[in-house]
Amino acid sequence: MHINTRLLHNYPVIDEATGAASIAIHQTSTFHQADIAQQQDYTYTRFGNPTVSCLEECIAALEQARYGLAFSSGMAAINAVLFLLKQGDHLVLGENIYGGTFQMVTDILPDLGVTCTFVDESDPQAWELAIQENTAMFYLETPSNPLLTITDITSVCRIAKKHGILTACDNTFMTPLGQHPIELGVDIVIHSATKFINGHSDVVAGLLALNDDQLYEKLKKLQKALGGILAPQDAWLTLRGVKTLGLRMERSVENAEKLSAFLGKRNDVRHVYYPALPEHPNRNCHLRQAENGGAVLSFELASADAVCRFFDALTIPIVAVSLGGVESIVSYPWTMSHAIMPEEKRLAMGVTPNLVRLSCGIEDADDLITDFAKALAIAHSE
Ligand SMILES: Cc1ncc(COP(=O)(O)O)c(C=O)c1O
Repeated sequence: MHINTRLLHNYPVIDEATGAASIAIHQTSTFHQADIAQQQDYTYTRFGNPTVSCLEECIAALEQARYGLAFSSGMAAINAVLFLLKQGDHLVLGENIYGGTFQMVTDILPDLGVTCTFVDESDPQAWELAIQENTAMFYLETPSNPLLTITDITSVCRIAKKHGILTACDNTFMTPLGQHPIELGVDIVIHSATKFINGHSDVVAGLLALNDDQLYEKLKKLQKALGGILAPQDAWLTLRGVKTLGLRMERSVENAEKLSAFLGKRNDVRHVYYPALPEHPNRNCHLRQAENGGAVLSFELASADAVCRFFDALTIPIVAVSLGGVESIVSYPWTMSHAIMPEEKRLAMGVTPNLVRLSCGIEDADDLITDFAKALAIAHSE
């Protein structure tokens, strides 16, 4: 079955009770128990809900995994994974990492007795060199937010396996259609479904996909105990969004390819970060492990003032935190997604005040290019 068919048929899509072409929203906190001596599938929505279960089956099907789990946000999903660590454990992760994950591992986990080491994620050897006796997890994010750096998933997972280390990979940027971390050796795949999976900028949600029975039991317990569950209405909206993921990604990726090529030719754009560009240092590695360059890119203008003028002059994309919507979204990592990081850290990783991140939506590329050309001219006119 090909992907656009799988997106519509490979998990529960029909309401079994009525035949409705859309599964029911079980908007309930609790479930009547007709016979308390009998076990029943659903008792309380924090422990499980049929609408949420459909989404969990959906992400498992898309990632070709045995299990899926849904959470109230990408961060809630990430935290469930990080809570697999215990006092005394050590974590290795790439130095280019989403700001929320960075805050969690540098600000919160140390108080719980978990230490971490950041490495140059594009160098598999750096991961191996960072291993300590107590290293329990490798945490990957590729391409990374916002600089689209690349981790060689297969090589890093091979190292992890050799040392008995668990691997988790944030696959938000590529989506389950663009990259298949489980096939490449990853134990747990993470998504902020807030982004492309839901795709309509109207839900905050997180998802996990994995194969291992014991890990699933642990994560299911954490989902229930930490309480960061996804509400039924949001699960339903996400399921509706998923149906068009293939078509949306096709257009968004095409737009990212066109926009990155356009920006790359401009003298007023200093640097374009997009993993499918010939000049990207890890292009070959990325295209070996992913289907395309994805729909997110970033680029540098001449100054922070130019960025402000550019944002003011744009008329099509929204200027916002987040990415992965049907509408193009420009954001400013310096004060948005990465504001949580110390300034020196941001500058060292390349998140400068001149950096703009673009998540391409499904608009017509010509309109986006015209809008960007006008806004760039205004941005650099003073
Ligand atoms: C790569 C990545 N992972 C995780 C998250 C966190 O997701 P959420 O905002 O749904 O909690 C984000 C949010 O921007 C992200 O970009």
